[in-house]
Amino acid sequence: MRISQASVSVHVGVIGGGTVGGGVYQAISRNAALIASRTGVLLKIKRVAVKAIDEPRAVDIPLSLLTTDWRDVVNDPDVKVVVELVGGTGIAKEMILTALRQGKSVVTANKALLATHGEELFKVARENNTALFYEASVAGGIPIIRSIREGFVCNRFLNISGIINGTCNYILTQMEAQGHGFEEVLKEAQAKGYAEANPSLDVDGHDAHHKISILASLAFNAWVSPEQVYREGIRSVIGLDIQACKEWGYKLKLLGVVKYISQESGIDKIHVRVAPTLIANTHILARVDGVFNGVSVFGDVVGETFLYGRGAGQDATASAVVGDITDAALDISKGIPDRLIPMCLNRQVSVLPIEEMENRFYIRTVTGLGDEENAKQLVCGEGIQINSAKVIPTGPHSFVALLTEPTSWKKINKVLSMLKACTTCAAEPVAFIIEDFVGACSE
Ligand code: HSE
Repeated sequence: MRISQASVSVHVGVIGGGTVGGGVYQAISRNAALIASRTGVLLKIKRVAVKAIDEPRAVDIPLSLLTTDWRDVVNDPDVKVVVELVGGTGIAKEMILTALRQGKSVVTANKALLATHGEELFKVARENNTALFYEASVAGGIPIIRSIREGFVCNRFLNISGIINGTCNYILTQMEAQGHGFEEVLKEAQAKGYAEANPSLDVDGHDAHHKISILASLAFNAWVSPEQVYREGIRSVIGLDIQACKEWGYKLKLLGVVKYISQESGIDKIHVRVAPTLIANTHILARVDGVFNGVSVFGDVVGETFLYGRGAGQDATASAVVGDITDAALDISKGIPDRLIPMCLNRQVSVLPIEEMENRFYIRTVTGLGDEENAKQLVCGEGIQINSAKVIPTGPHSFVALLTEPTSWKKINKVLSMLKACTTCAAEPVAFIIEDFVGACSE
């Protein structure tokens, strides 16, 4: 492909030569001319910092670009865009701050770092009249950050709900398809490389927690730290939960939710959480299966929209990172590196504690045979209305699942403690929210 006559070159430095770093190198090598023909900016990778020069790499990167010192990348005067692909919340922070303080644009995929230190990093970017791009930090290849920040700029966000962890979605999908238990499917996911040897970051909901905190902050222009956000992973889900939900017309998904509740004295009250959630089979999110991600965005002007794609993997993540590099390079080429405010944090929000939320719930307990009615009575005794019930005998026990009318998390928590205290209780009782998408699309 011919490179446009008007192209200007922008040098890029990458810190991290692993899976994503290799993908970024490959994508730019393959499509730099295409990008230049579309934007007038030719991306050139000048340096790549790696752990060791001779480590095995899935993608060959020319030796002449490699260094083992990240400062060689950040301090290279030709490098105008620094890409941080190291991950974690330690040295990565120093790398990004060093680059921003030199007025360089930074691109990162590091959700844990942004969720923990984003407020400071975005402030330093503004102070140094530069930008910090982070499209790949949420939902991999899906352009959700760009959509919320730019495409939907005229909207107030009423509901953003997403399946934003591919590992959990794969496990839940396989549990439903094969009828296997969590542990068995987790092992299989690990063998296939879909789950890490230490799966906690994914299955305990930390990864989705970071991502939903970033989306909440971006959508409401106010810093929402993970400490303000309720988190629950999928370890407590058993096969019979999935089966019961299916019979009732629901899918059980690990869902990240940001919901507008109301406004008081100019301050938005919002609800943010990550938790296993029942979604009606008819909702488009219920059709997001396997390792895929999907995010539904309901804006007051646009109505319901939906984005779907791969949330992880070399090429999907590289696509998002190179999109950011291109934006950064384009702004630099026009002499306005701070054209885009990466995350505007000029408002205040009040994040409602989950205890204050009212929802319909799915409750499950495993009782001794003959104790099923007691469990139901206990729930009703707390003033919770049961809408539907299922009892499935499982050997010496009974699996008891209930769907409730709207009630508070406070009452649900009390009931869970009481169910747990029953002498015949054979498994930790659980309660999962049924998401009715009120105020958003419920079709
Ligand atoms: N481990 C994540 C997932 C991908 O399973 O979706 C990186 O955020």
